[in-house]
Amino acid sequence: MDQDPSRSHVFYRKLNRRYPRIVRGEGCYLYDQAGRRYLDGSGGAFVANLGHGVREIADAIAAQAGRLAYVNGTAFTNDPVEELSTEIARRSPPGLELVYPLCSGSEAVEAALKLARQYWGESGYPGKRKILSLSPSYHGNTLLALSASARPHYAASFRDWLVDVVRVPAPYPYRCECRGVAPHCPSCSGEALERALLRENPEMVAAFIAEPVGGSSTGASLPPSGYWRRVRELCDRHDVLWIADEILTGAGRTGTWSALEPYGVAPDIMTLGKGVAGGYVPLSAVVAPRRLAETLAAGSGGLMHAQTFSHHPVLCAAGVATLRYLREHRLIERCAEMGALLQARLASLRELPLVGDVRGRGLLAGVELVADRQTREPLPRSAGLAEALAAAALDEGLVVWPNTGHADGVNGDLVMLAPPFIVTESQIDEIVSSLARALRRAAERVGAAR
Ligand SMILES: Cc1ncc(COP(=O)(O)O)c(C=O)c1O
Repeated sequence: MDQDPSRSHVFYRKLNRRYPRIVRGEGCYLYDQAGRRYLDGSGGAFVANLGHGVREIADAIAAQAGRLAYVNGTAFTNDPVEELSTEIARRSPPGLELVYPLCSGSEAVEAALKLARQYWGESGYPGKRKILSLSPSYHGNTLLALSASARPHYAASFRDWLVDVVRVPAPYPYRCECRGVAPHCPSCSGEALERALLRENPEMVAAFIAEPVGGSSTGASLPPSGYWRRVRELCDRHDVLWIADEILTGAGRTGTWSALEPYGVAPDIMTLGKGVAGGYVPLSAVVAPRRLAETLAAGSGGLMHAQTFSHHPVLCAAGVATLRYLREHRLIERCAEMGALLQARLASLRELPLVGDVRGRGLLAGVELVADRQTREPLPRSAGLAEALAAAALDEGLVVWPNTGHADGVNGDLVMLAPPFIVTESQIDEIVSSLARALRRAAERVGAAR
């Protein structure tokens, strides 16, 4: 029943596979046209935080589309954009009070980076223009966001179109020298960032962008507890704007509104996306302090990031309804509770073939796969383990998120989980048992069963 690509006009994401056609979603489940049920263990691409088929969100979207679907953000403001911005500002760290809504994570990252550069230029420091980012990291697929991302296989065809971004080794406890244990290595202590800042001359650095908890780049890796405090100190000392890319982690995914919250520090600029409208519409946002906007107001008069669909009434209405739903149903609190359960149950997978590490926070988890647990050596990319595991999981009726390149940019397989915040204990058990069966089958398929 899967879609035959030769009989379709869709330019598919993957051109060599057949896709099940999903016709309906309800709660944590998706249903294809044959009536087969899939447990959405990854919330799609870490998006479906509320679950599927929530009537209140659909109604809010329909009501706004009927009342006012579109006005251009250069000419008018509108009720939903005002309300959404107030609600996001209320949840953000003190000082982050202005919200610039866009449609995708990549757009928000581009806008945040442009804001940083424009701010320094209009403050009288046009030389502050370099960007620093972690390696590995992922910030999106448009060209500036891709330049900031250290995921070499995404960039391979476009290298000469990308701008230079300075790479700083990421705190990736499973793969770095200290293995996350004190005394920390330079990547995990922040010393690598300090060295990079000094080497590049801080007077030329505009911004440091990073994911507070690893998304698809380091697969739900948690930097050591003191890492972000050190980042804050360094960025303060050297007058560098720190952009927390919370496209994946924001809006509650790790059990708090932002993944940085437990670290007790705040960035200068934050990006949100994915779960901020739960997948009901494409919505993202840059959250910034008024002081940056005031500099632009006194200079050029605005952020040079005009897009037709920024500040869109229907998208913002979906965001307002999502935030209300999260609050009324205490879903971020629930994400923290069910997240603890998910992490505990997933830990049982450590005994299975190929499982090197299980980690994460809240309802965001990564299971990293290796050929050898002692040396942490990955299977070669040619084995196609991540894909084999995702396919075996789908056969079991479970959707997981496969990732590759974690050991060295090419080799190194991982799957991630990010179920909706409404996931129940029995669905968590279903996720873990289906994944365990899929792991055994995938290990056999790639000839790595032990
Ligand atoms: C941390 C992070 N930033 C940015 C993006 C890009 O978002 P989008 O795919 O909506 O452009 C992603 C997407 O996965 C992400 O995980």
